[in-house]
Amino acid sequence: MATVCPVASPHQEANPSRLKIGSVKTLAESSNLTSIPSHYAFTTSASGDQAVHSDHDYSIPVIDFSLFSSSNPDQRRKVVSDLAKACQDWGFFMVINHGVPESQMKAMGDMLTGFFDLTEEDKREFEGKHVLDGIRWGTSFNASVDKVFFWRDYLKVRVHPKFYCPSKPEDFSEVLAEYAGAVRKLAGGLLKGISESLGLEPGYIDEAMNMDSSLQILTANLYPPCPQPELAMGMPPHSDHGLLTILMQNGIGGLQVHHGGKWVKIDPIPNAFLVNTGDHLEIMSNGKYKSVLHRAVVNNKDTRISIVLSNGPSPDTVVTPAEQLVDGESNRAMYIGMKYKDFLELQQSSVLDGKSGLERVRI
Ligand code: OGA
Ligand code: NI
Repeated sequence: MATVCPVASPHQEANPSRLKIGSVKTLAESSNLTSIPSHYAFTTSASGDQAVHSDHDYSIPVIDFSLFSSSNPDQRRKVVSDLAKACQDWGFFMVINHGVPESQMKAMGDMLTGFFDLTEEDKREFEGKHVLDGIRWGTSFNASVDKVFFWRDYLKVRVHPKFYCPSKPEDFSEVLAEYAGAVRKLAGGLLKGISESLGLEPGYIDEAMNMDSSLQILTANLYPPCPQPELAMGMPPHSDHGLLTILMQNGIGGLQVHHGGKWVKIDPIPNAFLVNTGDHLEIMSNGKYKSVLHRAVVNNKDTRISIVLSNGPSPDTVVTPAEQLVDGESNRAMYIGMKYKDFLELQQSSVLDGKSGLERVRI
């Protein structure tokens, strides 16, 4: 069981000396960098527990999204049952034929490359001060409380129900709005299938989680080449807070998923999305579909960019296990209700540590 880590006050002022930490991008680009500064070194390194490749024994499930609209009921039933199995066994799956045009995915990739290539001064304009700010550019996870820094810069933008977007690069907001809308539609379709796979009405999650006002957050992660990748960590083991996370990446691997007691390397498949179930799907399904630990490791050759959209309930929804999945006997409710935005504020203002966010609501 993950340990509960001390919760920093969400409103605590960031330690001003910590804010002077610059981006990893600038550090990585500084000449003659042959070793990493000590505050990036993990005591338990990524090389300490070797990862295996996704292969026959550990092959990540693939869901063909186009089958959800099949006129053949057998095909529909099959994809719903494949989805149930993927959520139960892995909590991670690839989605193909997802309906998001390749051109939109490419435009997003180019836009984020352009954003991270802005000058440090330009990006500072978008540095968030508070966890609930609409736009936050930064480094590590929460530089005001992190004890060890992660080899990662990020841009976090809230895109729904209210849409924010940095004013640079040019046309960013058009590209982001279009992409986020297409991914929201995909998330909605998958959540319909997931509702069905839990024996609920197809529209159950949509209604119970108030998905009209779904909180959708973009996180773009930049992992520059690192001279000592075995000592640094891009992102430590964690689960995601929302219902479904939908990830694309620039063709460079680095994501590892905890499955069957091992870390499994997930190789990127061009134009497919990687989807994983989050803490709030675990809560609403009363533990039937668990959120899964994953981490990002770094390498010494290529810059990796991942573009992650978290699709969650509406911020004001108090998420509890679905009534239909709970009884007073063998299926007791395993989680207390908490407003999604309160959960988020607690998690984002603490050290990122496994599934510690979820431990706070577990009965
Ligand atoms: C995340 C995440 C993994 C990656 O942003 O929550 O897990 O591969 N990212 O960047
Ligand atoms: Ni994640």
